[in-house]
Amino acid sequence: MKYDLRLGVNIDHVATIRNARGGIHPDPVHAAKLAETAGADGITAHLREDRRHISDDDITRLMDRLAVPLNLEMAATEEMLEIALRHNPHAACIVPEKREERTTEGGLDAAGGLKQLQPYVAALGDAGIRVSLFIEPDIKQLEAAVTLGAPVIELHTGAYCEASGPDQERQFKRLADAAQAAQDLGLECHAGHGLTFDTVAAIAAIDTIRELNIGHFLIGEAIFGGLDSSIKRMRALMDKARAERSA
Ligand code: PXP
Repeated sequence: MKYDLRLGVNIDHVATIRNARGGIHPDPVHAAKLAETAGADGITAHLREDRRHISDDDITRLMDRLAVPLNLEMAATEEMLEIALRHNPHAACIVPEKREERTTEGGLDAAGGLKQLQPYVAALGDAGIRVSLFIEPDIKQLEAAVTLGAPVIELHTGAYCEASGPDQERQFKRLADAAQAAQDLGLECHAGHGLTFDTVAAIAAIDTIRELNIGHFLIGEAIFGGLDSSIKRMRALMDKARAERSA
């Protein structure tokens, strides 16, 4: 049985491997179709300004071929807004982006960027795209999402996944408190970044979280056991944690 926790599979790093050789293999769209079959409820792809992994053509092909919803991760820029409005994905997750970073290092400063973000949230929302803001588990940022009229927030789980011992407990509490606050504020709560087989259960057990977006670990793990197996195992760990929580 599937619980009310969706799994969004991020296929960016299939494109990272493809781009290492500059050809067409491995194809992230092929990975996305396999992920659908393996139990993904959605596909997530981040079209970065520098196109280091996902390309414009990947987005076109994902929109054509996916049976599950596409969550487009994007920076709040004119270029990305134009692309999102052209493709009309199910959801758009606004993320901070720095050229020199290896991955999305922290959450969006929605509270400090209300004026800059407002037109992007409004334009995406007006087009019927479900807008989510990728933020740190911080009440100021949650309140900013409400002010901006974004229906969804995604909590950055990176600090939790990298921490250990008492610091990990502290990071977990921040996430659990923020997920509760999101619900109280009427926001749908998603979470992701850095999740693995070892860290997913605790996060999946936070029952106010509705979706996890997971990429790098799943694609890396697929080298050893295949994508189907890595996604199925992640899905099973999520469902088990939810089942134990609701028992
Ligand atoms: N959610 C968001 C908003 C992200 O930017 C990323 C990384 O692209 C993820 C989830 C997935 O993180 P990871 O690849 O570490 O699982």
